[in-house]
Amino acid sequence: MAKKTLGVAMIGYAFMGKAHSQAWRNVGIVYDIPAEIKMVAVCGRNASNTQEAADRLGWDGIETDWKKLLTRSDIDIIDICTPGDSHAEIAIAALNAGKHVICEKPLANTVAEAELMVAAANANKNVKNMVAFNYRRVPAVALAKKMISDGKLGRIFHIRARYLQDWIVDPNFPLVWRLEKDKAGSGALGDIGAHAIDTTQFVTGQKLIGVSGLTETFIKERPLPGDYSGLQASASGNKMGKVTVDDAAVFVGRTDGGALATYEATRFATGRKNDMGFEIFGSKGSLKFSFEDMNELWYFDNTEGAETAGFQRILVTEGVHPYMTAWWPPGHIIGYEHPFTHEVKDFVENIVNNTNPEPSFADGLQVQKVLDAVEKSSANNGTFQTIK
Ligand SMILES: NC(=O)c1ccc[n+]([C@@H]2O[C@H](COP(=O)([O-])OP(=O)(O)OC[C@H]3O[C@@H](n4cnc5c(N)ncnc54)[C@H](O)[C@@H]3O)[C@@H](O)[C@H]2O)c1
Repeated sequence: MAKKTLGVAMIGYAFMGKAHSQAWRNVGIVYDIPAEIKMVAVCGRNASNTQEAADRLGWDGIETDWKKLLTRSDIDIIDICTPGDSHAEIAIAALNAGKHVICEKPLANTVAEAELMVAAANANKNVKNMVAFNYRRVPAVALAKKMISDGKLGRIFHIRARYLQDWIVDPNFPLVWRLEKDKAGSGALGDIGAHAIDTTQFVTGQKLIGVSGLTETFIKERPLPGDYSGLQASASGNKMGKVTVDDAAVFVGRTDGGALATYEATRFATGRKNDMGFEIFGSKGSLKFSFEDMNELWYFDNTEGAETAGFQRILVTEGVHPYMTAWWPPGHIIGYEHPFTHEVKDFVENIVNNTNPEPSFADGLQVQKVLDAVEKSSANNGTFQTIK
């Protein structure tokens, strides 16, 4: 039987746009997915730049107004790769127009926006919604989840999570949109802390029920930007602007499973480039992971005798490991771009099989509530905030 065709349109074509384009381009080559993917259109605000991006990234056409995408019958999926200030408006309109929506993280810039997005998702059950927390789809992370669900760690006592980068340590790095609250919602907290929150909640199956946090903005003013894309930028001149988000956030929390958790999110961890990682300690064993060594998961089996017990390195590249059947022979490692392919594979399967994608907008809202609670706690000198 001929496969169903799913037309995709993507809004925003820079850092995430490039990663998502690669995923849409190769998902049908790598995996035997139950649909033909057609990369119908990419949307940007400037026609010639958008056309250049379409040609480079493999999109059939362009639009310069995202609203036009919603009126087209050849588009089934809207993929939102814009900064957080446009997520809610685009996602809600797309769901109401009967399009499936995959939206980059964090889901929104505020809890109120995220609630409206969840309401739109609930009102349009005929279409699917997913928030793009891609680190869940790193095979080593998915394996960590499986090992915990299989009971290998026993009762979980501690969750230690971090997301460490260093790309704005230089005070002359310009004031890009990620440093402006009206565009990004928050700073390191929402941009990278959100990943650490989602990943550890996913892996452990436990949700944060309260937090106590501190945030800091180390560099209060920066030069206004000239050209920028993703995490690269240059200044436009000597004019300065105010940084309106946190540079770093730290918080402790309690989970609904009775664990104590600690989190750090910073762009000032000199030497750490993209260290999204965790350590999870349980009664029967523990796990540790760092994205900078993303093909590896470290496991300590506490049921083994002291003579031979020790952390073992699992190279997560075997055909039996999550997502790995379709890639390379064992030991032929994968990289940053692969989890994006896993993400769209799962999303397409959810659409065709009429199952619910995870993480959903509702999951994105729950993470948004954690971010909000950390900010409120920090504004109150670290007072513990309950998350409902
Ligand atoms: N999952 C991840 O690991 C990850 C990594 C980086 C960024 N992100 C998220 O992805 C989103 C985009 O971040 P980025 O790093 O790709 O940013 P970016 O600055 O590299 O790209 C943003 C793109 O959106 C476009 N854009 C902005 N407003 C638009 C509008 N109204 N209409 C059409 N296009 C518009 C810009 O022109 C640009 O092409 C953010 O929500 C960010 O938090 C996720």
